[in-house]
Amino acid sequence: DPALAAEGEKVFRKCKACHQIGADAKNKSGPILTGVVGSPAGVVEGFSYSKPLIKVAESGLIWSEKELAAFLEKPRAYLKGTKMSFAGLRKEADQRAIIEYLKSYGN
Ligand code: HEM
Repeated sequence: DPALAAEGEKVFRKCKACHQIGADAKNKSGPILTGVVGSPAGVVEGFSYSKPLIKVAESGLIWSEKELAAFLEKPRAYLKGTKMSFAGLRKEADQRAIIEYLKSYGN
């Protein structure tokens, strides 16, 4: 849904301080998000993840839309000790929009 993805592009302003997405994206303080929807967690090359993220990645966490929504709603409650210092997206509409935007870059 292109309209929802466009909404998500606005929501992505909240992520841009730490994340890049797209063909030329680079790791910043957060990992590249290109193709993250449907991808295993913790697999961006050259990014140094926190211990708790490495642990859930080893347990096989896949960033499905459902898991992403739960993580983004309250990152530090979903993943205790994560180094993603972001309060979260409490509005379900924002979660749906950002996921649609992320999906527009692969998967
Ligand atoms: C990790 C999305 C905002 C810093 C992640 C991951 C996702 C994500 C999906 C996991 C990536 C993976 O497993 O490879 C988002 C979205 C944001 C957002 C959609 C906005 C709504 C931020 C902000 C910061 C940040 C504002 C910095 C203040 C990080 C860091 C990690 C991370 C450091 C690694 C976490 C760890 O290793 O525990 N983010 N993020 N993110 N993000 Fe964000």
